[in-house]
Amino acid sequence: MKPSAPPQTYRVKSFGCQMNVYDGERMAELLSERGIQPAAEGEDADLVILNTCHIREKAQEKVYSDVGRLVLAGKQSGKKPLIAVAGCVAQAEGEEIMKRAPAVSIVVGPQAYHRLPEMLDKAAKGERATDTDMPAIAKFDALPRRRKRGPSAFLTVQEGCDKFCTYCVVPYTRGAEISRPFKDLIAEVQRLVEAGAKEIMLLGQNVNAWRGEDDRGRRTGLAGLIHALAKIDGLERLRYTTSHPNDMEDALIAAHGEVDKLMPYLHLPVQSGSDRVLKAMNRQHSADSYLKIIEKFRAVRPDIAIAGDFIVGFPGETEAEFEETLRIVDEVRYAACFSFKYSPRPGTPAATMDGQIAPEVMAERLQRLQERLAHHQYAFNQASVGTTCKVLVDRTGRDPGQWLGKSPWLQSVWFEGEAAIGDLVEVTLAAAGPVSLKGLVGQTVSV
Ligand code: SAH
Ligand code: SF4
Ligand code: F3S
Repeated sequence: MKPSAPPQTYRVKSFGCQMNVYDGERMAELLSERGIQPAAEGEDADLVILNTCHIREKAQEKVYSDVGRLVLAGKQSGKKPLIAVAGCVAQAEGEEIMKRAPAVSIVVGPQAYHRLPEMLDKAAKGERATDTDMPAIAKFDALPRRRKRGPSAFLTVQEGCDKFCTYCVVPYTRGAEISRPFKDLIAEVQRLVEAGAKEIMLLGQNVNAWRGEDDRGRRTGLAGLIHALAKIDGLERLRYTTSHPNDMEDALIAAHGEVDKLMPYLHLPVQSGSDRVLKAMNRQHSADSYLKIIEKFRAVRPDIAIAGDFIVGFPGETEAEFEETLRIVDEVRYAACFSFKYSPRPGTPAATMDGQIAPEVMAERLQRLQERLAHHQYAFNQASVGTTCKVLVDRTGRDPGQWLGKSPWLQSVWFEGEAAIGDLVEVTLAAAGPVSLKGLVGQTVSV
């Protein structure tokens, strides 16, 4: 590769989970710190970072087609961008990417972002650079202080996964479970709140596996962290995602009855309602033990919104086993859900299991599941009509005077009136649609 002028502008394109979005924001801050500016909307950037996700199929192919598109655009404009591939595909397929895509100058895995500046220096000299080491916590220490503004901010508190569900790439792409230290997290939230954040979403692949030592040196779990964060003035709302049933501690359940700032929302994936399938998935919990956890949450917080993830068509899944998934959906009455067709991931045990399910069977099951999930989501929204709650305004609506925000149950709510982004506005939920609600300011609604 020829030496090139250092980039002046960048663009980060993040795919996948919220942790990737968080990482993308941190990489952007790192580049800004080096004097590289974000490219203006619609303009080509000198440096493009594709922050990729590997969780389901086609991720890899998407990287190659995105790279191809960037190369073509560069040819047309005469301005060849420097291309970096980051994220989970970079971690899993780094070498392959370097071989197959000569236009890629940098491959950087999710635990090595803090080394981007050195890699950019190398690229400027015309060398290609790969870093997929996993120095675990190091990246958080080495990244610059956060500057993000906005009413709601993500904060990664835990990374990695030791669970090794047989279908999943995350333990391989993100590495072992680690928890960021308590005092770093308190400091980062303080800075985010000073910069205007009203709500913090604590993130982790298994966020409730977070463990640390509080300011008095006592061992504590996520509940302890939440109690401490709730004391920060100016912080109004706390959320966390995604939890794993096996890491659920009673103190976290109890926190939902004790901490007003902790929102009544729980994302607790179950994946399947069949114990045989759960066992083959290596989930290490049963449908029943999952339901018992939900029951405990509802006992302390009866209005809690439950969300989950589902996989249909895991190898060997029979029609009867799939129906057990529909049954658990009806039992839990989810307020929101994410559902996927099983996707064989290279290198995972499930990819070579017998009984791979035909695509048309998966498609049909997914459709039936999504109908049930949509039904419950709509029912949950309808049951909220008449409730008065606060909406955290995060966007303007289509028409002047229209605002959009989130209810405590993470529903999208729109309303008309005087407000600004970042306000917590009290509304009465007046009408429900399948995925959003209409709120009225200063009025009560009879239902
Ligand atoms: N740690 C979280 C989930 C992280 S991955 C948990 O265990 O709950 C997000 C979701 O992607 C998973 O919950 C699962 O539903 C889905 N997923 C992961 N691997 C998949 C695969 N190979 N095929 C289809 N969906 C998958
Ligand atoms: Fe993947 Fe399972 Fe870990 Fe979740 S718990 S990230 S699904 S291996
Ligand atoms: Fe995707 Fe990696 Fe997140 S595979 S879902 S970006 S942890």
